[in-house]
Amino acid sequence: MNIQYPGYFLSFEGIDGAGKSTHIEAFGELLKQQHPNREVVMTREPGGTPLGEQLRKLLLDAPMNLETEALLMFAARREHIAQVIEPALQAGKIVISDRFTDASFAYQGGGRGLSLEKLNALEMWVQGRTDGVLLQPNLTILFDLPGAIAEARRSQVRAPDKFEQMDLDFFERVRQEYLRRAKADPKRFHLVDATQTREAIWEELKSLPLEI
Ligand code: TYD
Repeated sequence: MNIQYPGYFLSFEGIDGAGKSTHIEAFGELLKQQHPNREVVMTREPGGTPLGEQLRKLLLDAPMNLETEALLMFAARREHIAQVIEPALQAGKIVISDRFTDASFAYQGGGRGLSLEKLNALEMWVQGRTDGVLLQPNLTILFDLPGAIAEARRSQVRAPDKFEQMDLDFFERVRQEYLRRAKADPKRFHLVDATQTREAIWEELKSLPLEI
């Protein structure tokens, strides 16, 4: 069950190279035009707060134990929720986050092998209330792409960070965990076939029925 706020919470997800970054800014602009009376907050994970951005640098550069990595991801998320996401949603704003908890399940869980039990416990700790209700995005747009195509796209763009240096098997496991979560919660997820052209994806995003 989700906590209900006057605001609206959207997350963008997908393996590195799937193309979410190409569309997220434009999508924010589109929502601003469509909802001139609502403020649109663009944010990201790991990051989104001064402390979170410091943790991001460590997480993307420094090799570390898997559990340390998961704990730091969720520590950054706790700060992000407390400082940015929850106050914005309470104030009726639209929040668009470049990644959220699904990324931890996909990367630390599917990719690196942290148990679902531990991830569920962290999620409950960081996003849950005592009555067991969780803070979750209203909608998660998942860009889905085979690992090999994403790898080819990544190699054209920039120097890879720690995660982007992982091999194809890693990204296939990350992808499968994203897909498993999408299947388990079809009401929250919108799956985008990221093998389509950029134009076709944009048309699809523009026509999403959002309950804002
Ligand atoms: P990313 O959105 O890819 O940033 P950029 O487009 O600037 O490279 O996110 C950074 C990386 O962090 C990405 O490889 C996925 C990883 N990540 C996790 O492993 N777990 C998490 O919980 C989150 C939020 C991100």
